[in-house]
Amino acid sequence: MTAVEDGDFVAGTAATRPLGRDIGLRIARAYLPRHPFGNRWDYYYARAKLGSDPLYSGVLDALRGSDAPLLDLGCGLGLLAHALHHDGQPLAYHGIDNDAAKIARARRAAAKAGLPQARFEVTDLALMLPEHRGSVAILDVLQYLSADAQLGLLEHVVAMLTPGARLVIRTGLDDGTRRGHTTRVTDRLANLIGWMQSVPKTYPDAAGLRGLLEGAGLVTTFAPLYGSTPFNNWLVVAERDST
Ligand SMILES: C[S@@+](CC[C@H](N)C(=O)[O-])C[C@H]1O[C@@H](n2cnc3c(N)ncnc32)[C@H](O)[C@@H]1O
Repeated sequence: MTAVEDGDFVAGTAATRPLGRDIGLRIARAYLPRHPFGNRWDYYYARAKLGSDPLYSGVLDALRGSDAPLLDLGCGLGLLAHALHHDGQPLAYHGIDNDAAKIARARRAAAKAGLPQARFEVTDLALMLPEHRGSVAILDVLQYLSADAQLGLLEHVVAMLTPGARLVIRTGLDDGTRRGHTTRVTDRLANLIGWMQSVPKTYPDAAGLRGLLEGAGLVTTFAPLYGSTPFNNWLVVAERDST
């Protein structure tokens, strides 16, 4: 992967394909309702997300090789815990989200899939964070925090990173592109239709994000992670400099 130079991005080597269809289907089954006529929204959402978005392949690649426990901030339905399990990465996983209904469904799906290493908690990460030492994932969440809250959060998570642990962020970037515009509009719509309780606030810019992480002594890589989606999603991986 390549670093960002003066806002000028060069395509990196983050995985750009979604997980295979079979894995997507297997994971999605954990989100089927108990009753045949129950609500299947999460099942179809999981199928569509896993089948179309390269997010999880990119994140699995970024975490591979580290056995540090993982804190997943804004974990939603906890799809990453399932993806790690299917990828043979048995990391201790702690997902937090401020949407209590999603956390309840995440717990149910993890229990159904038999993921004893996964636990979930309702927490507003703009207000407090759990104690943690290890890796941290922040996937498609930063935009729901104000610029100040993003700064405070990132300073906290940098302090959580142990040697060999990774900070893995996927985020839209504020770069004035058409992709950026599509991302903003879609995030706003997701809130308006009720899928996302939070309203998008601020998208970080690459130079500021890199400056903050590298200023804290981390080595960073930035790479596009939108695959064939129309969004402006980038994968940022940071870890302590081991040299
Ligand atoms: C686009 S979803 C991403 C879900 C998950 N990270 C993934 O990639 O599959 C954003 C998630 O962030 C959560 N979120 C937004 N603001 C939050 C906050 N202040 N504290 C905790 N979670 C938050 C939302 O509830 C939602 O589940």
